[in-house]
Amino acid sequence: MNFNNKTVWITGASSGIGKELAVQFAKLGARVILSARNVEKLTEVKATLKGDGHLIIPLDLSAPEAVLTQVTDLLHTLPSIDILINNGGVSQRSLFLENDFNVYRQLMEVNYFGLIALTKAILPSMVARKNGSIVAISSVAGKVGSKFRTGYSGSKYAVVGFMDCLRAEVAEHNIHCLTICPGSIKTAIAHNSLNEQGVAQNKPEESIENGMAVSCAAEKMIQAIANKKDEVIVGQGLSGWAPTIKRFFPTLFNRLTAKTNYR
Ligand SMILES: NC(=O)c1ccc[n+]([C@@H]2O[C@H](COP(=O)([O-])OP(=O)(O)OC[C@H]3O[C@@H](n4cnc5c(N)ncnc54)[C@H](OP(=O)(O)O)[C@@H]3O)[C@@H](O)[C@H]2O)c1
Repeated sequence: MNFNNKTVWITGASSGIGKELAVQFAKLGARVILSARNVEKLTEVKATLKGDGHLIIPLDLSAPEAVLTQVTDLLHTLPSIDILINNGGVSQRSLFLENDFNVYRQLMEVNYFGLIALTKAILPSMVARKNGSIVAISSVAGKVGSKFRTGYSGSKYAVVGFMDCLRAEVAEHNIHCLTICPGSIKTAIAHNSLNEQGVAQNKPEESIENGMAVSCAAEKMIQAIANKKDEVIVGQGLSGWAPTIKRFFPTLFNRLTAKTNYR
């Protein structure tokens, strides 16, 4: 697929994977729409992008109904969206027995309902043109469970299920649906992960610090979009292999998970 002059809307574009996807898509000649909450950071990212015509649309995915209204009202003023990348998200590092209930609400609002709201706003215009790609950044945590991630994994499994069903529904309209499940990628995700009270833990984590470089991850994600894949795992080492190990050795995998303290 040639991305020249395509319009790519990326959520979570103020940091990490979303920011790097924006940089790489702009290099490939695409016009990028950047969304997240932090407008200052989005402005900094936009200033680094190659080419013209990039836009900033601030969105707070934790208010999905507002996202749906805001984007539905705005869409006719924007260029046709060729690719939507639902990347914005938040993780978690806390035990079920210690979590406030609110932690689960926050994770589902941002990672699941926020993604559905934006997809609901944009997909009809793709269906009308019989062309477009909907991309969801789930996680390896959407394929396997581990300690400290009950809310995060639940939200990312939900994304995988949503995308599998959506793919089946919109195939007849020539819409491509790709689910990307990253393993550990070196970004600010651990710092921004929610603790038991639902606030950012502000701590690094070894597996993320030693994870795949974000430039390499974004390159693989763009390849998967170009090749119109249905689902890909993007990760190295154990974080990349975990879904395969679980598939073939589920009992062993579950026993090891119970003994592992990846925080
Ligand atoms: N890094 C990894 O190892 C890894 C592994 C698996 C999956 N993922 C997934 O990859 C995606 C990107 O994560 P990342 O690693 O790049 O982490 P990151 O550096 O923390 O970036 C997260 C992005 O999501 C945005 N975001 C968070 N809450 C939001 C909200 N309420 N409304 C709108 N935007 C919001 C943030 O922007 P603002 O704060 O400006 O709103 C930021 O741009 C996430 O969905 C994550 O679950 C990452």
